[in-house]
Order: sequence, then C-alpha cells, then structure tokens
Amino acid sequence: MIDLLLRNANLSDGRHGIDIAIDDGRIIDVAFGIEAVANETLELDNWLVSPPFVDPHFHLDSTLAAGRPRVNHSGTLLEGIEIWGDLAPTLTADDIKNRARELCHWSIARGCLAIRSHIDVTNDSLLAVDALLDLREEMAPWIDLQFVAFPQNGFYRYANSPQNLVRALDKGVDVVGGIPHFERTMADGAASVKALCEIAAERGLLVDLHCDETDDPNSRHIETLAQETQRLGMHGRVTGSHLTSMHSMNNYYVSKLLPLMKEAEVAAVANPLINIVIQGRHDTYPKRRGMTRVKEMVQMEIPVALGHDCVMDPWYGLGSHDMLEVAHMAVHVGQMTGVDEMNTIFDGITKTAAETLHLENYGIEPGCNADLLVLQARDPVEAIRLRATRLFVLRRGSVIAQSKPEQSTLTFGDKEQTVDFLARQ
Ligand code: FE2
Repeated sequence: MIDLLLRNANLSDGRHGIDIAIDDGRIIDVAFGIEAVANETLELDNWLVSPPFVDPHFHLDSTLAAGRPRVNHSGTLLEGIEIWGDLAPTLTADDIKNRARELCHWSIARGCLAIRSHIDVTNDSLLAVDALLDLREEMAPWIDLQFVAFPQNGFYRYANSPQNLVRALDKGVDVVGGIPHFERTMADGAASVKALCEIAAERGLLVDLHCDETDDPNSRHIETLAQETQRLGMHGRVTGSHLTSMHSMNNYYVSKLLPLMKEAEVAAVANPLINIVIQGRHDTYPKRRGMTRVKEMVQMEIPVALGHDCVMDPWYGLGSHDMLEVAHMAVHVGQMTGVDEMNTIFDGITKTAAETLHLENYGIEPGCNADLLVLQARDPVEAIRLRATRLFVLRRGSVIAQSKPEQSTLTFGDKEQTVDFLARQ
C-alpha cells in the first residue's frame, strides 16, 4: 500500500496520461498505468503536473513594504535604493518576519516552493539576516529558502560591507552577493567582483551578484564575473542576476561575451517584471526594454532562469509572487513566442531555476521529493497563457494548498453558459 497515486497527468516534457506513485514523501514511480494500491488516489484528467516553481531571485527583507516611508515617484532603481536606505534602519525583526512570512504564504499558494532571497547586509545590526534565518527554520516544512548576503549599498562603497558580509555568511547565509555597478567606479566594481568570488571560492559557496543592472552598455562586470569564475575554477556555481546592460551592448562585444559565459558555466537570471519597469527610465523615445538577451543566451545554451525580484516594495508596487506572471512577461518582453521558446521560459521558472539554486531531489522521477503542482492547464504554454490556477500544491506528498478551478458563468436571457478559457481541440 502506497501513500498516494496521481492518475492521468500531463507532464511538461510532453508525455500525456502518466501516473505518479508517491510514498513516504518521495516519488517512487512515473509510468503509464501503474498498478498499485494507494491510500489516496487523485484523478487528474490530463491536467499538467509540474515540479514546483522556483524563484531564483527575490528580496524577502523589503517585500510588502511599498509606500514606506514614501512612494517611489521616479520609479528608478536609484530612488528605490534611497527609499530603502531610509526604511531599513527603522525596521524591527518582527516587521521583517511578518512581511516575509506573508510573502511565503502567497508563494506557496502560487505553487512556488523554493526562493533564493538576497538579504541586505549593509545594516550593521544584521537584523534582517537573523530574522530571516529564524523564518527559514519556521517555514522549512513547506518552502525552501536560500539566502544571499547582499551588500545593497556597495561592497566598497559602504565601509562595513566586507565585514558584515562575512558575518552574515558565518551566521548561515548560503550565497555570496554583490552589486558591482553600484560601486563608485568601474574599477571598484571589478575589484568587488574579484574579492567576492575569492570569498566564495575559499568557503566553497555559490555566487549570485546583482550584475550590470543598468542601461549603460559599458557596464561590463559580467565579463569580470565570468573570467573570475574561470580563474577560481568555480564553473557552474556562479550566477549573474539582471545583466540588463547587455540589452544595450553592441552586438560584436556580445558575440565575445556569451562564449566566455558559456565556458565559465555562468548562469543568468533575468527579472522581466522589474526590468521592464526599471530600465529605460532615462530614455525619451525610443525607450529600451532593458531585459537581458534571454533568447540569445538560450540559443548559446547558457542557463537562463527567471526571477520575480520584488513584490510590493520600494522598487515595484505590484505582484502576488506568481511565477507564471514572470514567465508571461518574459515571453512578451523577450519576444519568445515560439512553442519551444515558451517551453524554455517555463523551464526558467522550474528546472533551470532549481539547477541555479543547486536544489537536490527536484523533478518528476523516481527518488525525487514528491513536491508537485497540479495546474488547470494541459501544457506549459497554456499554463503561461492563462497564468493557470494552481489546483493542488503538494509538498513531500501532502496537499498544502489548493484553489478552485477558474470558471465563469455567463447568463444569456434564461440560458447559462460556462467559460474556463481552456483550448478545445
Ligand atoms: Fe534584486
């Protein structure tokens, strides 16, 4: 007798009508017509079953604080950093925890069960680090939180950053972060990349830098990041987040840069919702979109994951932590409307994001954790198109969230008609 049997699932790799057997929190079989006696059976009628969404780039310390102490009128990255600089010293541990916990609840309801969150370490008290490490433990049965020590005000630009960053790592923060384009000079930015990679190499940690989040085509810290990755032998352990300057670089330079990133096995994280509202703010018309070159990197087989980055914070006043909204925006901004391209974008919020975080036992095969979503869609393209309802969210084989299927009822005189927006063959 096994714990749970899912019948007739569609999988994102194109297989239809598959059964998934689950026991003791793990997937034990994935096949057609599994013959097993289960405590519970869920008939899925060919709904799409996916491993959970993974957000590879978020900020839990600032989330749900939009408008405090004031709104971001210019909508720029720099005004957001200024507002955050005023708000951060006034926060309490409870405030940070309560907002982050609420966000985790939204995330779980939306089927995202792993978040890599940057934590600002330029507040000398490291209050946010302590609060979020506590929250990680509290939420561990339901969601995986991975933390990045992020010197928001610069590694060299703020004098205490180097020691604060190391203190945060000593406390249990997992990943080394940075923000080279915010240092005072290009040279300081490059030096920060080198120093941060060395700290990570020494400690055997992953690296994820906010890198070149600017429209300046001469912001080329990703080149240094890839080169340092090679020099220190950190292949596959380094991520460049944002990389928006690449949008504005000349094509010849990019033709040299992408092979270097590929050689170094550096992953990219684009944050389409944020990039499309933050970048190009200094432009009149034409206005640049600012998102990095997702299509070109995918063609080069550079891993590209997609992050939400912000929900209702000083940089972005919208969102409900829905990774399908992220994917939907990526498809549009990146003009990736081919079916294969949309499937790749779906991977960017699932498989590729999980690989970027080095998550273990992730996926739909025997031995993986039974962490699964049942979506009200038949395939990944439909899931993106509809930002499909997450009918069930499973963690270690138990349903931890469920939502009613989306359906509207129309009334035409004395007749009623229901609509669910699904494609009919
Ligand atoms: Fe960010």
